[in-house]
Amino acid sequence: MERIVIQGSAPLRGEVSISGAKNSALPLMAACLLTERPCRIENLPVLHDVKSFLDLLRGMGVQVESRGGSAELRADGLQRVEAPYDLVRKMRASVMVLGPLTARLGAAKVSLPGGCAIGVRPIDQHLKGLAALGAEIRLEGGYIHARAGRLKGAKIFLDLVTVTGTKNIMMAAALADGRTQIHNAAREPEVVQLAEVLGLMGAEVRGAGTDTVEVAGAPRLEGFEARIIPDRIEAGTYLLAGAVTGGDVCVTGVCPEHVGALTGKLADAGMDLREEGGRIYLKGDRPIRAVDFQTAPYPGFATDLQAQMMVLLSLAEGTSVLSETIFENRFMHAGELRRMGADIQVEGARAVVRGKGRLTGAEVMATDLRASASLILAGLAAEGETTVNRVYHIDRGYERIVEKLSALGGRIQRVT
Ligand code: EPU
Repeated sequence: MERIVIQGSAPLRGEVSISGAKNSALPLMAACLLTERPCRIENLPVLHDVKSFLDLLRGMGVQVESRGGSAELRADGLQRVEAPYDLVRKMRASVMVLGPLTARLGAAKVSLPGGCAIGVRPIDQHLKGLAALGAEIRLEGGYIHARAGRLKGAKIFLDLVTVTGTKNIMMAAALADGRTQIHNAAREPEVVQLAEVLGLMGAEVRGAGTDTVEVAGAPRLEGFEARIIPDRIEAGTYLLAGAVTGGDVCVTGVCPEHVGALTGKLADAGMDLREEGGRIYLKGDRPIRAVDFQTAPYPGFATDLQAQMMVLLSLAEGTSVLSETIFENRFMHAGELRRMGADIQVEGARAVVRGKGRLTGAEVMATDLRASASLILAGLAAEGETTVNRVYHIDRGYERIVEKLSALGGRIQRVT
């Protein structure tokens, strides 16, 4: 099994270019199932999750031509309209094929994703939305079986804000008769990009980026060409890498407003930040001030950056309280950070971080994608050597992270 070994305490310096967003790439690939026409996606990050999704589509008979950062997908000969347990178990986002397949073919069989390392993660809101559009949903043998004639637009009130739930329903609604209103919709930039793509395909989508999205379906959808937006979580992770090492880092090719909640907190923590076009410069000033924050749906502080921010607060002077409001079990990294000398007390959905100004290297274990990123950041900041085990999680969502951090001066390598 591969490990990442880091010699810490080297301030990161220089520029790092941000890749395409994983959480936009996955729904755009699912959207290709809505049409028999070719769909072209550019700026596709080279990640395990992207590869797994392409494998899922290939298994269904989608023709996939992918080269480096681009892929052409053509779903004109769908055969096996099933998302099997083995793939969904590894990548929950596979459930996003449910809406498009039900809408286009009138049938789908998709494994029910189970819980995962960060929470129970039900998909009841996806199913409620599809049922409102007229699909008949049956759960049997660990699978969702959906059947439908032509879907019909409906008013849907989501009980809570769900990102992939909003996307699944939007895709189904794009091929439904009439108008669908999704209330309490997710407002993430990745939802906005999906809306733009559905628009290119011939549906009419209004309100994306607000909490009410309206989709007027079309009888048939066209292909599309789209360039994936920059990954705001990757950008935030590199800004935090600069901050925790007291470095001087510039992230390029980003949309600064997408990371506004993070940069606001970084400024409160005493970091020196400057934005210029698609670039954000960060100077990791000392001392680091303690700050409280809570995760929230976009435009709030992203839960996908909570673990990395916890590293910064462990190095601060003073006590910070952070609340995780999205996932009930997303503090697995806290125990590992404690092994590196952090003082973190988890009380239900809150973590109290008493900053100690320093961390020390240790052998730690990654439990999920963002926890892996936080442990790597902690290793870069810590005194001495850190070994991060189970690093396969990191390859799901960070393109060439070891190379990018090395180019910034991080003393980091992957060993087998
Ligand atoms: N939820 C329900 N019922 C549903 C759907 C969601 O109770 O039908 C709950 C979840 O259990 C969770 C909350 O609602 O407590 C929010 O979940 P959401 O559905 O928004 O999460 P997701 O769509 O499954 C996406 C990202 C995650 C990111 C979350 C929150 C993708 C592929 N995944 O997940 O990304 O953390 O939104 O922003 O877009 C990651 O990239 O590391 C990652 C986990």
